[in-house]
Order: sequence, then structure tokens, then C-alpha cells
Amino acid sequence: PPGSRVSLTVNGVRRTLTVDNRTSLLDLLREHLDLTGSKKGCNAGACGACTVLVDGRRVNSCLTLAVRLEGAEVTTIEGLAKGDWLHPLQQAFIDQDAFQCGFCTPGQIVSGVGCIQEGHTRSPEEIREWMSGNLCRCGCYVKIERAVEQAAG
Ligand code: FES
Ligand code: FES
Repeated sequence: PPGSRVSLTVNGVRRTLTVDNRTSLLDLLREHLDLTGSKKGCNAGACGACTVLVDGRRVNSCLTLAVRLEGAEVTTIEGLAKGDWLHPLQQAFIDQDAFQCGFCTPGQIVSGVGCIQEGHTRSPEEIREWMSGNLCRCGCYVKIERAVEQAAG
């Protein structure tokens, strides 16, 4: 199959790879870079489990073609903590007990970071609205919203 070279920065590390033109960013992360924190839920843009930041904006990585990302800066759940220092939203998820099975959690946290950076945290309703692309089969929505509220300060 046709392949293309793409250079992008993932969690601060420059990567150059040759990938099939049909490869999604999610598959590039999980299968080529061994970054399996981003989850494949629906693989169709409906669940948010694969959420990453591209140039600071939230995207569903399952719907994003890797070859379109020449020069992009990608941040995944693996890029949020710095050594022993957890990102404030990761700490807030622990404090608020905002997960059960944890499958949706990486996507929820990355999405929450995006939500905070975008400034959509003025009320619980606004947080819920802007986090609505992230589904949680365990129904932890109230606690997730509280965690985002805590981290947003
Ligand atoms: Fe990407 Fe569900 S796996 S939105
Ligand atoms: Fe199980 Fe959200 S914690 S799907």
C-alpha cells in the first residue's frame, strides 16, 4: 500500500515515520510508537476514548489521518505527567474518584485539559457541555465534571 513519511512531535519528542496513508493518528500512536494510553473505543468518532491534543486542540485521533500531521505537536495522556509530578487534572481525577473501569479515563483527562485550556469551565453545565464528546459507560459523569472543576480552579 502507498506509504508516506511524516515528521511530528509527540509529547516533546520529534518522530519521523513512514506510514500507510490510511493510518489514523490513533494507530500511529498505539502501534508504531507503543503509546497505548489513548484507547480505541468506537474507532468512529463517537466515544472520545482516543482524544489527544494536536497543536493544543482536542481531536479524536481515530478520525485523524497521521500523514496530515506533518510538523504537528501531539500531546497524549503519556505526556501530561512530568516524572513524579502529576498534571493537576490527573490528581483531581484521583481526588474525586472520577473513574471505575478506567477505559475512558485517558480520553477524559486529555479532553478535560483541552476544555480547561479553551476556557470552557465557567460552570458545571458548561463543563458538561464541552466534555459531552467523551462517553463513560460506567456513568462517572458527575465526578468527572467535579474533577475538571477542581483542576480549573
Ligand atoms: Fe475515537 Fe471512539 S475511538 S472517538
Ligand atoms: Fe469505565 Fe468511564 S470509567 S467507561
